[in-house]
Amino acid sequence: MGYTLDDVTRIVLEAKERAHQETGNEPEPEFTSTVEWPIECTVGPGLEGAIACETKIGYVNGKKGWLIYRGYDIFDLCAYSTFEETSFLLLHGRLPSETELDLFCRTLRRRMFIPKTQRSLLSFAVEERNPMDALRLGTNLMRQKQIRPGALNAGITGETVASDEDSIPMETKPTGWKKPVYEFLERLFRPVQDVEPSADAMPDDVESFYNLIAGVAAVSATIGRARQGRMPLEPLPDLGFAGNYLYMLTGRRPSPLEERVMDICLILHADHGMNASTFASMVVASTLSDIYLAIGAGISALSGPLHGGANVEVVNMLEEIGSPEAVPKWYKMAVAEKRKVMGFGHRVYKAYDPRARILAPLAEMLADESPELVSIYATARALETEVVSALGEEKKIFPNVDFYSGIVYRSMGIPADMYTTIFAVARVSGWCARVAEYLEHNRIFRPRAIYTGTFDEQYKPADER
Ligand code: CMC
Repeated sequence: MGYTLDDVTRIVLEAKERAHQETGNEPEPEFTSTVEWPIECTVGPGLEGAIACETKIGYVNGKKGWLIYRGYDIFDLCAYSTFEETSFLLLHGRLPSETELDLFCRTLRRRMFIPKTQRSLLSFAVEERNPMDALRLGTNLMRQKQIRPGALNAGITGETVASDEDSIPMETKPTGWKKPVYEFLERLFRPVQDVEPSADAMPDDVESFYNLIAGVAAVSATIGRARQGRMPLEPLPDLGFAGNYLYMLTGRRPSPLEERVMDICLILHADHGMNASTFASMVVASTLSDIYLAIGAGISALSGPLHGGANVEVVNMLEEIGSPEAVPKWYKMAVAEKRKVMGFGHRVYKAYDPRARILAPLAEMLADESPELVSIYATARALETEVVSALGEEKKIFPNVDFYSGIVYRSMGIPADMYTTIFAVARVSGWCARVAEYLEHNRIFRPRAIYTGTFDEQYKPADER
């Protein structure tokens, strides 16, 4: 009880220690050497094993359970970094200087103020839509002018900035009014003149990426508020990205502990190799389509229960199970029905997912702080023991990132149906970084399918069939 920020760092470093004791430290040679195209590789269904490109952004070692962003171990980033700094690292390939980081944080904060997008979004019945569908819609609405990703390298993206400006009444109290008063209010804070990055400090061609990182968070928060019958909140000048996101989503100023834990969650979800949603974004961008549409494709792919949608399913499943004592019976039934257990297994990890290594003890810490989480956390732990003893050795099935994240979000009072949007808020950084990297040597994605249909069918008019 009474955990501090130092306890959070200690928990992350203890998880790192355990991971390093259990895993060796050699990279997988077949996935870390430069290639001469074309290459030969063995491809399974679902493009398993297919190599689509080279990258310097991130590395997942599935056999050992490592996750690395731009050479930095995920455990170190979670212990010492912030989401803003990690996003800068993913996008720019290096850690920012103090001045750059300060500027970047203020830029993101300023761009979380998107009244035009919010106004357009709220003209739809957002509260009745699936939150991921609403998030995709809001992301498309953020785009005010046509921007082709292929134009990124041509340096003409300066004119692509979303044209949000002060034009919608914002609530000035976090509790909000059920029926907002429609009058134009002064913004709570005015950005100081220097918040916009100078041309020297920030390259022009990432304008849209900054808009997307900040804007998707604001859109997610707007959806969360709309589902509570509330109007959007604007970001506060003294909160960082994670803190502001939590504030704008829940309407409650987060505690420093909550802000720190959310920051870690965002870092953990920021990038993860050639996963389905990243690939979806890259495929759309490779056609030189619009970057907002490319990120919308990522959001669409992420929404499925086999990908980011699993975090919602996990919480529903744990509630269905009900208690740790009910786990063995429930699991027997799940096996009999050939059900996949949500939050377990991974295409790449055949070892314990390092993200779950961090989230599990954080969930434990938060459960220790909140009596209403004790039972759901204990149920999760019991289910982990059951599944890992049945499938760990034989099928290399362990908890993945989605297994404990929902418990963490629940401790912050976030409704379950918003969990997948949090995943998207973080992953926008990885999607943008990977799209930008791929476009440097773009080639449109175009695999082939093996045709197993018939030939020589004779066409008959409809009335003869
Ligand atoms: N529960 C029970 N058995 C499983 C599970 C599971 N969660 N996952 C895989 N298996 C078994 C599967 O039945 C199969 O067994 P067999 O060889 O006897 O047919 C074997 O393991 C391989 O499974 P697969 O479905 O072929 O593996 P995949 O690489 O195609 O799928 C996966 C990976 C993540 C979609 C899958 O493990 C799954 O459906 N997990 C549950 C959903 C989930 O938690 N998704 C979040 C993934 S991590 C976050 C993210 O990237 O979004």
